[in-house]
Amino acid sequence: MNTPTLFSDLHVAHDWLAGRGLLPPERRSETLPTPLVRLHDGSTVVSFCSNNYLGLNHRPEVKAAATQALHEHTHATSESRRLGGNLGLLGQLEYELAEFKKQPSALITATGLLANIAAVHGILDASELARRWYGSPPPSSHPVVIYDELCHRSIQMGARESSAERVRFRHNDAEQLADILAVYIGRAILVVTEGVFSMDGDMADLPSLVEVCDAHGAVLMVDDAHGTGVYGADGSGTANHFGLTGRVPLQVATLSKAFGGMGGAVLGDERTIAMLRTFSSGYRFTSSLPAEQAAATIAALRILRSEPAVRETLWDNVRRLRTGLARMGIHPPGDGPIVPLHMGTPRAAAKFEELMLDKGYWCVAVTPPAVSPEACRVRLTVSAMHSSEQIDGLLERINDVSSQAPALMGLARSYAGSAT
Ligand SMILES: Cc1ncc(COP(=O)(O)O)c(C=O)c1O
Repeated sequence: MNTPTLFSDLHVAHDWLAGRGLLPPERRSETLPTPLVRLHDGSTVVSFCSNNYLGLNHRPEVKAAATQALHEHTHATSESRRLGGNLGLLGQLEYELAEFKKQPSALITATGLLANIAAVHGILDASELARRWYGSPPPSSHPVVIYDELCHRSIQMGARESSAERVRFRHNDAEQLADILAVYIGRAILVVTEGVFSMDGDMADLPSLVEVCDAHGAVLMVDDAHGTGVYGADGSGTANHFGLTGRVPLQVATLSKAFGGMGGAVLGDERTIAMLRTFSSGYRFTSSLPAEQAAATIAALRILRSEPAVRETLWDNVRRLRTGLARMGIHPPGDGPIVPLHMGTPRAAAKFEELMLDKGYWCVAVTPPAVSPEACRVRLTVSAMHSSEQIDGLLERINDVSSQAPALMGLARSYAGSAT
């Protein structure tokens, strides 16, 4: 039998990429970063590629909470929230998370990706779905979603899942957003941005975005995956950082970054959250978060709130890394723990990853489709777990690579922010 066309197209593309060294290596590890990692080949390296910013999943209290929940409830719910997978622990987590984020209500999903799908598609479609299934009053207009061009794939997935008209605005360009909003004035509009951009490490211009959205009657949603637990005087995220607590009506948080767990959350007013629970794909049509994850995140959240010193250590480490890079003439965008070193092509980024790994440091190359082919980078993430020696060691190795392969570092030196 002939190979079906779909497979043969795929195989041709695979062989083309493989022949050019463009398929990223599947590096496996035998341990998770502490930040030391034992790789599959037995070597031990220092990882600078985890989003586990505070290392909370290594804390005994967090492990004990997860273990107890595992014994009480086993490791999976095997049900969606609506079909009996709605453990009380999930409600407890929702309550504590909403309080922490200073939002009226929260809804927990099994991953952060699902939280974005649930939030974006849910808020755009729920009124129409209520009309279609139950005959409620029709929505006043066909909704529009306008999102920053660098938004995470899951936000784009939520927009595509919805029936709304989709528009993108230039990265962090509130003026262009205002021009677009003027075209859609009077429609039901959702504007979406990330609090801290996952690949560039820079923050949303939240003060301008809040002002522009308020002026045009648009709902602003912030995916605060990388801001929650890291930014703000109380760690509650980017809204708090900008003094805008209570001014961002819809937010998403992931439990997989600063909380060191797994899962996602949508935060908003009670009626919006109730509608998402009823109509959102990312919530209704998938199994609920396992008990041990909920228990672990509750424990992690309590540590985060009661021990500000953990976040202070993170920020000391961020400053140490960024100051060291600045001494080498490298000024990555942003000011936080996501530190992108721009390399240009996929091959250059992969080469840098390889050279660093040879020297005992693991920092992953980010290549398409996560970024555009000319904007490839190595994305360093620093955590509260890193020691000063490990950060200094990383800086020394970057310096070595700089002299060994100066062309690689040229772009990292000249780069001051991008739109992919
Ligand atoms: C900005 C952003 N939003 C959402 C997600 C999805 O989160 P999770 O990994 O918890 O599904 C990520 C993680 O990659 C992210 O960086």
